[in-house]
Amino acid sequence: MGKRRVLTGITTTGTPHLGNYVGAIRPAIAASNKDDVESFYFLADYHALIKCDEPARIQQSTLEIAASWLACGLDPEKVYFYRQSDIPEIPELTWMLTCVTAKGLLNRAHAYKAANDANREKGEDPDAGINAGLYMYPVLMAADILIFNANQVPVGRDQIQHIEMARDIGQRFNHIYSGEYFTLPEAAIEDNVATLPGLDGRKMSKSYNNTIPLWLPEKELRKAILGIVTNSQAPGEPKNPDESHIFSIYQAFASAGETAAMRKAFADGIGWGDAKQKVFERINVELAPMRARYETLIAKPGEIEDALLAGAMKARSLAQPLLARLRNAVGLRSLRVQAVDDSSTAKATRDDKPALQPVVFRGEDKAFAFKVLDAKKNVLATQGGFADPKAAMAAAQLAMSALAPG
Ligand code: TRP
Repeated sequence: MGKRRVLTGITTTGTPHLGNYVGAIRPAIAASNKDDVESFYFLADYHALIKCDEPARIQQSTLEIAASWLACGLDPEKVYFYRQSDIPEIPELTWMLTCVTAKGLLNRAHAYKAANDANREKGEDPDAGINAGLYMYPVLMAADILIFNANQVPVGRDQIQHIEMARDIGQRFNHIYSGEYFTLPEAAIEDNVATLPGLDGRKMSKSYNNTIPLWLPEKELRKAILGIVTNSQAPGEPKNPDESHIFSIYQAFASAGETAAMRKAFADGIGWGDAKQKVFERINVELAPMRARYETLIAKPGEIEDALLAGAMKARSLAQPLLARLRNAVGLRSLRVQAVDDSSTAKATRDDKPALQPVVFRGEDKAFAFKVLDAKKNVLATQGGFADPKAAMAAAQLAMSALAPG
């Protein structure tokens, strides 16, 4: 078996913050150093256009995110590191996938539904202010993943549905055009990756406006950390580390030994000011060398541009042969080649409404699973790992609507 392909995209709308570092950048770079994986990291700038119409911000964010990943140790020689908009095979595949995707599947996407619900609550037309980019988002994301035949996609829980849709869409293409064109990807949920509390104690996130930018100069980083909310317990009072954001942040950076020592300091009544100072020092030790690299890199945008273009060339050498096969499969072919009638060999067409049947069962791991069978009892789709039969059945229905819309 070849190496496992792990792929993930980063939308280029913001400035990297400490939460991105702990939750995404650091674990991804650690994973990219394993020998049994081939890693794909890309700047999802087409995705950025869906929610951002400020060109300067998209460019700046692309630069900052690329420089951050490189400064944190991503080795572009070892991984595929590229910008989505440098891979024209992605939008081309997006269209092919669009034409096999059930509109009903996209109606059920969480992000689109949430925007609909918000409109309804305000008494507006459900689609008011929603661009078709948001609606098509899952198809573009499926193309990102399927073009490189990724096996695993590390994502947050909010993105699981998108990975399931990528599977459904890929499976439906394979089915209609009777071939194993696409590997069906799986979501890799990193449950042991820390989510970092932000300034107000809620999860650090751009949408809560509670972030600490990753590359603040030392003095400002210290100031930001001193500004994290705490309760009013006085120095000398024993403090509960398990209810403290300061402790969680420390733990996200510290070794097991350092964490144990901090636990003891909390029990011994360390003051909030001293605890925050220790958090600052611990974070700063880790970031300082990377910050220096970041500053060098960001001063030479041309070099980052070159690295991304080289990454795109490498990635396109994988995407181009697959796309050529796909063009042939769907009939976008040279006229010099005698037309072939595939209809007799194709197992199914878009208009077929195969009698599909969902079956829910319990896997060896005791989790619930489903399979979708066609009239000849061929397994068209299967997936396990569901907590209850209802969830498995819901996923089976989703898979069925992808396989046979309408
Ligand atoms: N939608 C993802 C996010 O907002 C970013 C993304 C785009 C992505 N394409 C992807 C992630 C493909 C994984 C795989 O976080």
